[in-house]
Amino acid sequence: MEILTTVADMVSARDRSERPLGLVPTMGFLHEGHLALVRRAREQDRTVVVSIFVNPAQFGPGEDLSSYPRDMERDLGLLEEERVDMVFSPSNEEVYPQGYSSYVDVQGVTGRLEGERRPGHFRGVATVVAKLLTIVRPDRTYFGQKDGQQVAVVKRMTLDFNLGSEIVVVPTVREDDGLALSSRNVYLTEDERRAAPVLYSSLCRVRDMWQDGVRDAGLLRREAEGMIAAEPLAELDYFSVADAETLEELDLVDGRALALVAARFGRAHLIDNVVLGDTDAAS
Ligand code: PAJ
Repeated sequence: MEILTTVADMVSARDRSERPLGLVPTMGFLHEGHLALVRRAREQDRTVVVSIFVNPAQFGPGEDLSSYPRDMERDLGLLEEERVDMVFSPSNEEVYPQGYSSYVDVQGVTGRLEGERRPGHFRGVATVVAKLLTIVRPDRTYFGQKDGQQVAVVKRMTLDFNLGSEIVVVPTVREDDGLALSSRNVYLTEDERRAAPVLYSSLCRVRDMWQDGVRDAGLLRREAEGMIAAEPLAELDYFSVADAETLEELDLVDGRALALVAARFGRAHLIDNVVLGDTDAAS
């Protein structure tokens, strides 16, 4: 496994790689969710590149950039076991050198939900993903359904800028009790950890109702909000039933839609979602 820390080295490694080449962008502190993306890439692509970069541009002023969990040595061991070919782990200065001034602003889909609550977050995500796609030039890039709005933003940008990579979406990996794996789960206390699966329970209830034919989005939202309100350790940010591509809030669920939830448990900000519609990435 090659470890590349400069853009120049990554570009020349990419140029001598066998195709198809798959890229899995991450911020490290890897868990089974990340590894599901890596395994999918390993199945499909001749060359697998994983990037590890805690991207300062996507963290707001009050957010957890400095305390974001990191363990490069462990991550490299895990990726070696998955037979990854290359790890790209540049420094902040390599990605955003002195004088850096260009950002990617995806309109529309970034204006709501996480985008509304975390101003600048998706500008940071879109910018770093655009840079990674330009540096690595993957045939396929892998993202988790867990971050449903991020998927919508990246798909929109890839189309709009003709970036030429297929975006592959991998179902959410969960703990046995339904909690979606997340690097931020380490912030949960024992009691909060016990309470956190209410997010997935509420999503499942909504999906069951949808499968039973309920199409009134207001009814679905109210049911889920009631369940989360009954959990004293959960502080709900939003429960949304939205169009899967534009993330626009729906009155009636008639096409492919997402149910998305965000809540705080102590200092952990957790998000989750399920697909309502085709069962492709449903999880
Ligand atoms: P990070 O949070 O490290 O996640 C990297 C990838 O792993 C994302 O595509 C995310 O959706 C996926 N992932 C995380 N938890 C998952 C789970 N439980 N099941 C399936 N996939 C999961 O998302 C980011 O990093 C960054 O925003 C990034 C895209 C790397 C840009 O900086």
